[in-house]
Amino acid sequence: MKKTFFLLLLNLAFLIPVSAFRNEPDSVYLFAYGTNGLRFAWSLDKISWTPVGDGYTYLKCDYSTWGSEKKMIAPCLIQGRKGGWQCVWQLNDRALQFAQAGSADLVHWGPQAYPYVKSGKNVLRPVISYNRAADNYTIVYTDANGQYFKTVTTDFKTYTPAVIVPFSAYRNVNVTANINGPVTGQMHRVAWTVVDGLTKTYELQQYQTRQNAEITKDDAQRFAGLKTIDAKLTLLPEKTKAISTMLTGVFFEDINYAADGGLYAELIQNRDFEYLPRDKQFRDTKWNSSYAWSLKGDGATFFIDSVAPVHYNNPHYAVLDVKTPGAALVNTGYDAIAVKKGETYHFSAFLKQLNGLKGQVAIQLVSDKAGVLARADVNMAASSWGQVKAELVPTETASDVRLELQPLHAGRMAADMVSLFPAATFKNRPNGLRADLAQAIADIHPRFVRFPGGCLSHGDGLQNIYRWKTSIGPLEARVPDRNLWNYHQTKGLGYFEYFQFCEDIGAEPVPVIAAGVPCQNSANGGQQGGIPMSEMPQYTQDIIDLVEYANGDINTTWGKKRAEAGHPAPFNLKYIGIGNEDQITQVFKERFTYIYKALHQAHPEITIIGTAGPFFEGADYIEGWKIATALKVPLIDEHYYQTPGWFINNQNFYDRYDRKKSKVYLGEYAASLPGGNKSYWETSLAEALYLTSIERNGDVVSMASYAPLMARDGHTQWDPDLIYFNNTDVKPTTGYYVQQLYGQNAGDHYIPASLTLTNQNDAVKKRIAYSIVKDSKTNNLVVKLVNFLPVSVKLAINLNGIKRTGGTITKTILSGNPADKTVLPVVSQIVFPDDDAIELPPYSFIVLRVGVM
Ligand code: AHR
Repeated sequence: MKKTFFLLLLNLAFLIPVSAFRNEPDSVYLFAYGTNGLRFAWSLDKISWTPVGDGYTYLKCDYSTWGSEKKMIAPCLIQGRKGGWQCVWQLNDRALQFAQAGSADLVHWGPQAYPYVKSGKNVLRPVISYNRAADNYTIVYTDANGQYFKTVTTDFKTYTPAVIVPFSAYRNVNVTANINGPVTGQMHRVAWTVVDGLTKTYELQQYQTRQNAEITKDDAQRFAGLKTIDAKLTLLPEKTKAISTMLTGVFFEDINYAADGGLYAELIQNRDFEYLPRDKQFRDTKWNSSYAWSLKGDGATFFIDSVAPVHYNNPHYAVLDVKTPGAALVNTGYDAIAVKKGETYHFSAFLKQLNGLKGQVAIQLVSDKAGVLARADVNMAASSWGQVKAELVPTETASDVRLELQPLHAGRMAADMVSLFPAATFKNRPNGLRADLAQAIADIHPRFVRFPGGCLSHGDGLQNIYRWKTSIGPLEARVPDRNLWNYHQTKGLGYFEYFQFCEDIGAEPVPVIAAGVPCQNSANGGQQGGIPMSEMPQYTQDIIDLVEYANGDINTTWGKKRAEAGHPAPFNLKYIGIGNEDQITQVFKERFTYIYKALHQAHPEITIIGTAGPFFEGADYIEGWKIATALKVPLIDEHYYQTPGWFINNQNFYDRYDRKKSKVYLGEYAASLPGGNKSYWETSLAEALYLTSIERNGDVVSMASYAPLMARDGHTQWDPDLIYFNNTDVKPTTGYYVQQLYGQNAGDHYIPASLTLTNQNDAVKKRIAYSIVKDSKTNNLVVKLVNFLPVSVKLAINLNGIKRTGGTITKTILSGNPADKTVLPVVSQIVFPDDDAIELPPYSFIVLRVGVM
């Protein structure tokens, strides 16, 4: 009887909310306010207000470009259908748009929308109200002319045309409260649990912020007194599972001069005279068609013209008017040109005689210090455009070289597509890639290459969306464009060259195509600038044509173009990404769904990759996953750039993923230190640690690629990157070697294990990680071990019945101080530590390759 009574009490305790035992109000006043995001305060009496979460921002505007936009002006929050919350706000003082978002609990907000209205000068101070009888919402706004307008919606997807209304229709619900001074907002009466939920969200956020901020600088204090740790790793072969064989790949984006001035081996900068002020948003007065070009000598002038160009896609060309022979047109390359003694360089240009300039042009490679290193005299083409070619072989190695075109007679000459390529490109491909950089990528052993972006793929506004068809064919016919990373793209490294490179390094090509929407951070109004639905059939056909270009028979329209470019055999394209970390709005959903269905129907053999927004959480992540699940999209692209602390504390991120839903492509990730953006051994080791969890989850994570891949010294828009370079040197980072070790030591099966430690501290446990995979091709067991602690770990390995072959095993170690910028792999042959333990030095990553039967 006593026991039953006790159990009854226990049950009751679970049924009664905890707050019932505390002296808390049933309901309070909630004040919603904010200029840079939605904040709350609560009050019992409307007089004394307490900011919730210390003024924490529960909703931020994601409209348009970073910096000048993403503002939340005059938010108006109401409770509407079934108690759900709706918020509208003003975006700026120009747009004929307002913003809207909804939430059930004020914590989790759905996707934002920025509906267009056609009436008024702009949209100022929108207010929203709910009509229970009609079950619809009315938004009334004013404009710069002081008129008032209203539009009505039931679903926040379609709105009635905005019409003029009298001032009396503007139901301003704003009141003023004193929250550390007077603020304007809306007052609501809510259950205390609403405030409690908001507070807990803030507290969790604070806790996670502290975790994310964990850095090794604090290790001396965090791990004071910590001694060497003994560990035992016991393999559980009976739990072996198949994992993806595509886990390590690369993401190549034309950012940081990674393509023009980088991987693309062209040595002439602005060869097409198409640099335009808009490339740099008119912020650099020197950035125009003559950038990187200059005139040398007297008695000559040089200007840009656009009458009768080589090709209408390349409208600008240079005109050199020589009065006294000796003057030359000079190109300084990308921070000068570097050449090697005795190597061949292919020069080519389109030239045209104007006003009687006849005869020859001397093409010279001239070093500042060493003088003329190579010269070839070419015959001027006739009075219409013609391509001239020459070979230059420098007599010295130099890195301060410029190219000079010096007409040997007086008169006028036009020049365009002036080009200089090393003959020794990667695999000696014409119009090819810089051999050292391409080799550095190949040495990672990437299973795939994602290209051409990133943000570059979806572009800065509709006109800047990367269209693959503009990147193939003769170089002079390709369509150069602004690079949204604020420079210029020649498209010399185009889809053909990307496919060729993938084939050359044995990687699967993974092109990424915009989902009919530009980057949400575009300057021209964010996501709402989707391609009109009436144009989506043609846009989608272009994507379908890409499959034909890559895989089609040479008798097909697009397969023929591939063959004409020199590759009759198919490229065997298997993957296409649609979208890049887009904001998942209604505009996106319509277009993504349209493309997905059409492409899947036309080419069910292609694996389509969807997108889950720019973060590992939030509205875009949730909505992206919703679409992927509903459409059964096979793969979904996730992105996150985080601190080492985040990677350490989130190793279980994929453990919870539903194996029956879409698989994951972790398309962009990197660790960078909080507040800074540099890459040190600390960040790379955090990546190595996290990647053990990616291998462990290799049954749900199919692919992963670090980002960004490459950066040219002095032209870097994004740090950290994996490989830095200049004209002569390739400078892999510590992170590069982590990627390489994973790429070179991949497996097809994962063997779980149990790890026992002599220390049970949670912070210690999180900093020792392992992954064991089997590579069936080599019959090798690959054991990866990470020690993120300031002390050694002595680790014994029990293979638990797996039989080894041979006596020694290969050990590769990367270790150093967390602040080291250079950490190189050290390879050795060791005896398998059967009866002993292997030492994992402080801050180390070890890979063991063990031959097994
Ligand atoms: O990797 C750099 C950029 O990061 C990519 O272009 C974009 O997708 C992400 O925001």
